[in-house]
Amino acid sequence: MKTFLQNIPKVELHLHIEGSLEPSMMFKLAKRNNINLKFKNEDEIKKAYDFSNLQDFLDIYYQGANVLQTKQDFYDLTWAYIQKCKEQNVVHTEIFFDPQTHTARNIPIKIVVEGIYEALEEAKNQFGISSFLIACILRHLSEEEGLKTLDELCLYKDKIKAIGLDSSELNNPPSKFKNLFKKAKQEGFLLVAHAGEEGDSEYIKEALELGINRIDHGVKCEQDKNLLEIIVQKQIPLTVCPLSNVKLKVFKNMQEHNILKLLQQNVCVGVNSDDPAYFGGYILENFIALDETFKLSKDEVKKLCINAVNASFLNTNEKEKLVKQIKAYK
Ligand code: HPA
Ligand code: ZN
Repeated sequence: MKTFLQNIPKVELHLHIEGSLEPSMMFKLAKRNNINLKFKNEDEIKKAYDFSNLQDFLDIYYQGANVLQTKQDFYDLTWAYIQKCKEQNVVHTEIFFDPQTHTARNIPIKIVVEGIYEALEEAKNQFGISSFLIACILRHLSEEEGLKTLDELCLYKDKIKAIGLDSSELNNPPSKFKNLFKKAKQEGFLLVAHAGEEGDSEYIKEALELGINRIDHGVKCEQDKNLLEIIVQKQIPLTVCPLSNVKLKVFKNMQEHNILKLLQQNVCVGVNSDDPAYFGGYILENFIALDETFKLSKDEVKKLCINAVNASFLNTNEKEKLVKQIKAYK
């Protein structure tokens, strides 16, 4: 099964590039940029990755991101993730980045976007891995600040496919960003939002009312039977991240996770890694963890992979080609 999981063509739709910053790279970049880390070594860092909830994680994740300073840093970070994609046969990936995490430290958006984008172009040229970039607005900040960032992001429409929403969910519902999503849509961006990770199903409902194309996490959808019906009927994709949900105590353990239950109810769920350097693994490790707990059938794996293709922002031809490959895969 491991070989099957490793080699099946996969699409990843929920990956924060700052969350792929491995402790070894954190040290390398800290040294290169003369930044003092409060951790003495990689083991100390790994020990600190014992989270009680989303906020607990975010506090450490934003600290880690401080080592990212130059265009080369963003390139190297992205390139390291691309190596993982190659190893794990991720053939298409849609990557989040958090512009405000960097502009708050006076790192220009241009540096961030160009560093990431150049690595993604190289991934396409060298390995045929395709990708889109999604800029996430930090929901713990104000809508006004988000709107200022959106104005800047409009200069990079050729490189950024969609606008997303992440960071501290509780008390920061999607409706707080109503004007921002309206503007982003008018500007031609596609829309995604984290909703129903820690926040309840009402947050998912609000996101859909704002015209959001795809929900990140969304695992709380089960709380509202009507909403669940709509999600199935309209095939609204949920980008689910099993290891993340267990690490951040959204579910007590993997046995309690509802991804298989949702799949069996024909919800368009896929498997993703969220912040792989912090949560114990990339997309393959997420599939392996699910298989260890639920004993996946090959058909279930294929359905999860096909759902991700259908949930992606690829065009119809590209989707059809990938679905065919997955169906034919043995
Ligand atoms: N949820 C919200 N914000 C985030 C996450 C997450 O899982 N990872 C990085 N930013
Ligand atoms: Zn996320």
